[in-house]
Amino acid sequence: MRLAKIIELKFKELFNETPLIIRSPGRVNLIGEHTDYNMGFVLPAAIDKAIYFAITPRNDDDCVVFALDINEEYKFGINNLKKSKKGWPNYLMGVVEQLNVSGYSLKGFNCVFGGNIPMGAGLSSSAALEAGLAFALNYIFNFGIDKLKLVKMAQKAENKFVGVECGIMDQFISLFGKSGNVLRLDCRSLEYNYFPFNFENISIVLFDTCVSHSLAFSEYNQRRKECDEGLKVIQKDFHHFQNLRDVSIDLLNENKAKLNKIIYKRCEYVIRENERVLKACTALENHDLAAFGSLMYKTHEGLSKNYEVSCKELDFLVDLTKDNPHVFGSRMMGGGFGGCTINLIENDSIESVNKMIAAEYNKRFNIEAKIYVTKISNGTNIIDVNENEKA
Ligand code: GLA
Repeated sequence: MRLAKIIELKFKELFNETPLIIRSPGRVNLIGEHTDYNMGFVLPAAIDKAIYFAITPRNDDDCVVFALDINEEYKFGINNLKKSKKGWPNYLMGVVEQLNVSGYSLKGFNCVFGGNIPMGAGLSSSAALEAGLAFALNYIFNFGIDKLKLVKMAQKAENKFVGVECGIMDQFISLFGKSGNVLRLDCRSLEYNYFPFNFENISIVLFDTCVSHSLAFSEYNQRRKECDEGLKVIQKDFHHFQNLRDVSIDLLNENKAKLNKIIYKRCEYVIRENERVLKACTALENHDLAAFGSLMYKTHEGLSKNYEVSCKELDFLVDLTKDNPHVFGSRMMGGGFGGCTINLIENDSIESVNKMIAAEYNKRFNIEAKIYVTKISNGTNIIDVNENEKA
């Protein structure tokens, strides 16, 4: 049975009502990593792995939420939001808090949710959760909030309530994703353009290391600080630069002596990565897969050597693809220290490449890698459970 239907049935069983069904997707990021919080460019896409919500409004202030995947219920009051040790309710309460502080007069709601975005794999299940609930509450309470504002609220929910200083990419693409297209986002102006990603014989395949090193959290915040530190040094002489993305590689090099070695490496990575996103979009327009793929390998190299957010498992998976003529590009994806690599692989060879990767990875780390062949899908939306999903 389709996931959305299962969620709907559970909702009817628990609450005896017919709910609205919302689908909110996870994401991949083709290129542009650790650039969003430096106000640079990213190139993500929503995927065919999603969280489904069944939801109805209530007349009181109680929120009753059931997480189907783990069979757990959580209740909270609209005006009584306390951080939960369980973890997952915080993403939802964070959204409620954002609506509260923005002055929307919310009521309680009943909700069942569940999905197939693997947790901890770097596919932004948390952003899907936040974006999905923000979208759902906006709809059932008729607030008329535009999508961009929902994105910002969903991001703030994570920053303020969950306590992760993430950038805007994940929530943006979850809400703005478009089937068949990647989205180039300027994270400063929030201008965006869709680029068709239509290489007929190529698929986006994710190799999940199935590791998630505990460094991820602290090092993410540390990288943000290092970038800010580099920017501050440059700003001493160039006051008009607002973000790292304003600094050219030549200017960085002219100021190299003023920067400590680590800070220089971080800044160099970010500046070059912004350039790569723009080049990657040109490659897409020229339908030049080889150029696109080689930029992905360069990104990985930068993330691994200069930004230092990779790990041996991710490096190993990328290295395995390097001499394979059927793989056009490969790199670690997301925050780092575990999760997935993203790969562009010829359709006819997916099976053989996957087999090779799984065998070699298992031999080296004694871990069964998980593999997901993904499709680019639409962003958060209402769906009809009885219709075939278009996404
Ligand atoms: C995580 C964050 C994003 C982004 C990426 C790295 O996914 O949530 O905002 O910073 O890491 O590109």
